[in-house]
Amino acid sequence: MRSTTGWRAQDGALVQAAITRRDLRRDDIAVRVDLCGVCHTDLHALHSHDGGVLVPGHEFTGVVLEVGPDVTRFRHGDAVAVGNIVDSCGECDMCAAGQENFCRAYPTLTYGGTDRHDGTTTLGGFSREYVVREKFAYPLPSGLDPAAAAPLMCAGITVWEPLRALDVGPGTRVAVAGLGGLGHLAVKLAAAMGAEVSVVSRSADREAEAIKLGARDLVVSTDAASVAASRDRFDVLVDTVPVPHDVSPYLRLVAMDGTLSQVGHLGSMTVETLDLLVGRKKLSSGGSGGVPATAAMLEFCAEHGVAADVEVLPSARVGEALDRLGRGDVRHRFVLDLSDLD
Ligand SMILES: NC(=O)c1ccc[n+]([C@@H]2O[C@H](COP(=O)([O-])OP(=O)(O)OC[C@H]3O[C@@H](n4cnc5c(N)ncnc54)[C@H](OP(=O)(O)O)[C@@H]3O)[C@@H](O)[C@H]2O)c1
Ligand SMILES: [Zn+2]
Ligand SMILES: [Zn+2]
Repeated sequence: MRSTTGWRAQDGALVQAAITRRDLRRDDIAVRVDLCGVCHTDLHALHSHDGGVLVPGHEFTGVVLEVGPDVTRFRHGDAVAVGNIVDSCGECDMCAAGQENFCRAYPTLTYGGTDRHDGTTTLGGFSREYVVREKFAYPLPSGLDPAAAAPLMCAGITVWEPLRALDVGPGTRVAVAGLGGLGHLAVKLAAAMGAEVSVVSRSADREAEAIKLGARDLVVSTDAASVAASRDRFDVLVDTVPVPHDVSPYLRLVAMDGTLSQVGHLGSMTVETLDLLVGRKKLSSGGSGGVPATAAMLEFCAEHGVAADVEVLPSARVGEALDRLGRGDVRHRFVLDLSDLD
């Protein structure tokens, strides 16, 4: 076993704790985690934590410390990025199609997952070291800043897949609801794909920010007149709102034959079917991305200069980051610098 340090959930907070990592398997790499983004999913996980070992964090960049004997794509010292999936069965139709995120045998999540070999619970990237199968690690393109790139590995890929699957490109009218971690990357990615992008936010005073990110304008979700003025306007609406909400106002913004892609973790929800019927609208979702899509997303981001807007904090301030994330006080992603764990 390898020993390291991380931030473990205890009584609703995160406390510094010694944790262990497995010895390297033949196709494993050990990564020194330098920078890990703070995702709203980490907050959901903390809120629903019922006692098991929980170390959050599933979008990180770092440096390869050591490689197993069968590793071919990495060497000691390489810059690397890891997202929210660290393994899959490799045999089902989804895995064969490069959609490991939809593995029929369930993908192994970066934290809170169950290791396919030893049955242990996976512990996330709010730690100084992580051991991962090389297949689920990605070379970090040299043009990308390691802090700004970390959030691409969950927030970025989660919005990339639906944008790609829904053929977003020049001329597509895209709306992004919720201007947080996922939302701001959806705006940047859709704009870089050539789409006409709008933001749907609760606050009118976020318009300048939305435009700076690449949007043309802002629809205020809490203002009936603003919503009515954009009725049936968007081919694609990516909804990143992290709390259960009425999707009717958002569906009304979608154009005929358009799609609302709901990516927030919301549990069950109720939909008024008339909101789908009128205009043959589609309700969809997505979650994370497969290996080929993640590699393509990183390449696209390096080429187009897309990365997250981040506020980097020493990892000891993780509690403050989570509090502020819960209050929506983040522009647009917190990233923890784990070097203070040395
Ligand atoms: N499907 C997946 O694989 C996947 C992956 C990652 C995350 N997620 C989920 O996606 C959601 C978003 O994550 P995130 O990290 O982007 O969160 P985030 O940074 O907190 O951003 C969420 C945004 O939604 C809006 N919002 C917040 N509270 C709201 C409320 N009560 N009502 C209406 N709008 C509200 C805010 O934007 P405005 O101020 O502009 O309104 C906020 O910036 C979470 O549920 C997360 O768990 C899913
Ligand atoms: Zn996430
Ligand atoms: Zn599979």
